[in-house]
Amino acid sequence: MPQRKPPHRSAVEYAALGGLFCVSLALPANAAERLDIMHWWVSSGEQASIEVLRERIRAQGLKWHEQAVAGSGTARYIDALRKRVASGRPPSASQMIGFEIQEWAKAGHLESLDEAAARNQWDEVVPFGIQALSKYQGHWYAAPINVHSTNWLWINQRLLEKLGSPPAPDTWDDLVLLLERARAAGMIPLAVGWEAWEHTLLFESIAVSTGGAEFYRRAFVELDAEALPLPLAIRIFERMRVLSRFVDPGFRQRRWDQATDMVRKGEALLQVQGTWVDGEFALHGMQPGRDFQCFRFPDTQGVVLFNSDQYVLLKNGPGSQAARRTLLNTLMDPDFQAAVNRRSGAIPARVDVPKDGFDACGRRAIDDMRSANMRRTMMGSIAMGNANPPAVKTTIYSLVSRHLKGELDDLRAGQALLRALSGDP
Ligand code: GAL
Repeated sequence: MPQRKPPHRSAVEYAALGGLFCVSLALPANAAERLDIMHWWVSSGEQASIEVLRERIRAQGLKWHEQAVAGSGTARYIDALRKRVASGRPPSASQMIGFEIQEWAKAGHLESLDEAAARNQWDEVVPFGIQALSKYQGHWYAAPINVHSTNWLWINQRLLEKLGSPPAPDTWDDLVLLLERARAAGMIPLAVGWEAWEHTLLFESIAVSTGGAEFYRRAFVELDAEALPLPLAIRIFERMRVLSRFVDPGFRQRRWDQATDMVRKGEALLQVQGTWVDGEFALHGMQPGRDFQCFRFPDTQGVVLFNSDQYVLLKNGPGSQAARRTLLNTLMDPDFQAAVNRRSGAIPARVDVPKDGFDACGRRAIDDMRSANMRRTMMGSIAMGNANPPAVKTTIYSLVSRHLKGELDDLRAGQALLRALSGDP
């Protein structure tokens, strides 16, 4: 795969420090209208991905203005979007994930996309689990551009070889053994960043691997508190504690993509993260099997915890109906979805896009999604807000993060989790 030049870094760094940046790409004076897009794709791989959309919109004669706000779709990002809407300056469109879409549709801020959906048969091509998040009360409010998945291990190949090339860790015990070997060899075994959603990614993989797919669906998607007996909740947090012992103290200061850089450069053995890691690796010309390995988190083979990036249209944002239609058609175009996701590390949010051009991890993710979809083991990621509403998600964030930092013991964290699932934070 040809190596793309990483994008200019300073703006990315600035945004990631919590600031904002705007890029207005000039077009000729007679250029038509402006689309104002808000998103959180600020890491190097994400910048390379948004470039695909930017280029396609500009190629259709529209002017592109963007505001990128770090925060990976969590509270930091949503606060910035809320401020713009409250001050009467909504963007034309915004990236959005999971249950946030329902909340924004319910609050009346979003335009219905039913007309475009019917014209282009979205009902037929978008995986059902994603449609449930894109729609509110049976109406389309979001256009899904991809399917990321979070229950993956991303492992540096060179370090794995230094450890004698052990096989893929298939079980929890295999994983612990691998991390212990890395520590004994003087490596940082597990790279993690500081944000609560990242810690919750560890939590959700451990939860589904400890309790199984049916348990995960009942407890975290259907919010049936009875599906989670206290001993199981404690067991999940015991395992979280085990993993936390393999994390270096620097985790409190770094972003997710800096943790990815550690694995990329061979400063840490592995990261438990979403498929956007593949986007970062690909940008640096890394290939699966040669430079890194992607393995499903142990005991979660057959399960796909998903996160779908979607775009919503805001009422009263800039852009005529025609310009907005162009945006929607582009977002749902099979060729665009293939192109953007070969960069993002995700796969298309359509069942009709071929696997051509995806790397080995992407092709495997497409196969996994197809079979998990049929077996009802394709389930929303808790951390990325695709499993349950924002209030439940943020309660889980808080207790998982406090437990990871040693502020809650296993018993108290387990009890707090049961309360969160019964709607009693
Ligand atoms: C997610 C998003 C991904 C990736 C990730 C890390 O919310 O769906 O596309 O950007 O955040 O920033």
